[in-house]
Amino acid sequence: MTHALKTPDSSPGSTAAPKAGTKALYGGTTSRRITVRDIAAAKERGEKWPMLTAYDAMTASVFDEAGIPVLLVGDSMGNCHLGYESTVPVTLDEVLLLSAAVVRGTKRALIVGDLPFGSYQEGSVQALRSATRLVKEAGVGAVKLEGGERSAHQIELLVRSGIPVMAHVGLTPQSVNAYGGYPVQGRGEEAAQQLLRDAKAVQDAGAFAVVLELVPAELAAEVTRMLHIPTVGIGAGVECDAQVLVWTDMAGMTAGRMPRFVKQYARLRESLGDAAKAFAEDVVGGAYPAEEHSFH
Ligand code: KIV
Repeated sequence: MTHALKTPDSSPGSTAAPKAGTKALYGGTTSRRITVRDIAAAKERGEKWPMLTAYDAMTASVFDEAGIPVLLVGDSMGNCHLGYESTVPVTLDEVLLLSAAVVRGTKRALIVGDLPFGSYQEGSVQALRSATRLVKEAGVGAVKLEGGERSAHQIELLVRSGIPVMAHVGLTPQSVNAYGGYPVQGRGEEAAQQLLRDAKAVQDAGAFAVVLELVPAELAAEVTRMLHIPTVGIGAGVECDAQVLVWTDMAGMTAGRMPRFVKQYARLRESLGDAAKAFAEDVVGGAYPAEEHSFH
């Protein structure tokens, strides 16, 4: 099924195979920071790339050394790092603090700071004030905000002011109270048309990339073909230009049931729990510290 938008963009990205080389976002050898120009060039080359969230300097340095080219200091820090039930309570000051840590812990990755709920919804001026703090005080290279057509004005002013913006459409978790949960978006003709309009609107407003969250794979593929900016999928199928996961989900650190789209590449929660138990047993049994850990 196809949902061609009434005014499709005439400059879709190339589908050519990625060229290996020093410029590749992942596996490339550029030692300077990745910029939004590198991201645009990757879309032209048809190169796929990975993105992870990060919330602290140490974890961010691991991902940076692993070559992850884009790290998002997502407001998912609410659930994954700060102990909130959703992203809604996250404040700009919290994002600032953690973004600055992630910037300090990295040398190469483009760091994207998330604008939390309440820091841009009032309008463009509020968005500019919040984004400016993230760029100036935390040192991020770009910001992300949620919403398609409804956030186009904010994106336009930020981009005109020299702040690169990653947009976020489909499921926008800051609206959890309005959705009453986290439902898949873009199902049915009307919803699909709205998603296409949202994606086109953020591109036209100047966003350099757009996250597609919880969108049927066929629709995400259509958006990816339609846009000349890269799509970053999360629960949006394999055809997106990039894929993002929340790092604690990806590494098996998050407790409880995972959403279907998550693939776990490690079992960190189990490993860390085992390490803590081994330490505790050594302490209560007198095996730690041993002679080699002691000073005389
Ligand atoms: O906050 C976040 O981590 C996000 C990603 C899931 C895209 O918005």
